[in-house]
Amino acid sequence: MGQSRHILVLHGPNLNLLGMREPEIYGTVTLGEIDAELSERAKSQDATVETFQSNHEGALIDRIHAARGKADGILINPAGLTHTSVALADALSAVALPAVEVHLSNLHRRESFRRRSYCAAACRGTISGLGARSYYLGLEALLEILSEKK
Ligand code: DQA
Repeated sequence: MGQSRHILVLHGPNLNLLGMREPEIYGTVTLGEIDAELSERAKSQDATVETFQSNHEGALIDRIHAARGKADGILINPAGLTHTSVALADALSAVALPAVEVHLSNLHRRESFRRRSYCAAACRGTISGLGARSYYLGLEALLEILSEKK
């Protein structure tokens, strides 16, 4: 009672195509399935999630700004913007909400440009390479971090 937490889940560019997009790298699970599982898991821990996918950097940044005072934490897969977007990283730092970065694929097993994440320094930690499980473990970590704060 009284400790329900609200998590903003953000999915970056091209993640709307999950399930059909390079399944040998990203698997066959769809974004809708991931979002439904996150909702279920949050519910069982007295939390709620609000999910948002965009192919547009500014739309993701606007959503991060709007989370101020509304969400308790952010779970984010910045997708390709991970490796390019100073602005997205700055938005995460600006709102100063606890955030966890997740990736389906193992960034360290792929091209070298994927090893650099601008967002990582603005997040508490990163989970990469565990498929959809990266999101579920990221949610778990975020909820634990939030309960420590109470
Ligand atoms: C990704 C990894 C990124 O390098 C890539 O650009 C994506 C997806 C992942 O979840 O594995 O779009 O963030």
